Amino acid sequence: MKIQFLGHACFLLEGSPGKVLVDPFLSGNPLAAKTADEVEADYILVSHGHHDHVGDAVSIAKRTGAVICSTVEVAGELFEPEGLEVVAGNIGGRLPTSFGSVKLVPAQHGSGVSGGLACGFVVEMDGKKIYHAGDTGLFADLQLLQDEELDAALLPIGDYYTMGPADAVKAVEMIRPGLVIPMHYNTFPAIKQDPQEFKKSVDELDLCQVAVLAPGQSLEL
Ligand code: NI
Ligand code: MN
Repeated sequence: MKIQFLGHACFLLEGSPGKVLVDPFLSGNPLAAKTADEVEADYILVSHGHHDHVGDAVSIAKRTGAVICSTVEVAGELFEPEGLEVVAGNIGGRLPTSFGSVKLVPAQHGSGVSGGLACGFVVEMDGKKIYHAGDTGLFADLQLLQDEELDAALLPIGDYYTMGPADAVKAVEMIRPGLVIPMHYNTFPAIKQDPQEFKKSVDELDLCQVAVLAPGQSLEL
């Protein structure tokens, strides 16, 4: 599976069964590596209703016919009224998809819509498991993700709105993924961080690999 970082919390996961785009904040994102007009997707996962995660989900779904996955309240408020094809579940649920499956997992963060919940995702495709944390602070139940035996974890390190670098290192210790990729930093002044410092701290634990991807860069899992 190919994992491409498109800036902020946006990733494109490409496997043989399809393309999964997560949190497509491209228009108005100073670090975006692609425009909303050129990105392709079969599914779009939206972790919560804040603008830096919903981004261009509606316009990309309308152009590509991609199916949107999110939690019930976020999908009901932001995507169903647009007439888009939606798969809406809730925390703890695994949703079958044409590429494999996506499980909605807890995130400690506002949902951006009334009565809703923010989530993270465990994506299964091509025999690999990827965790995208969405926006979240550190919380003890992250250690339950260790049982998922994740091949990769995409974790926010920006601080201010989410966990910062020190808490993200603690999250790595709890989750024990094969690989960690930092995200949600340097897009705005409030979340300025040095990802190489985060990498150094994780490397010292000797638990997993760290890949710092510049927007547009990708790796093969
Ligand atoms: Ni948010
Ligand atoms: Mn955010």
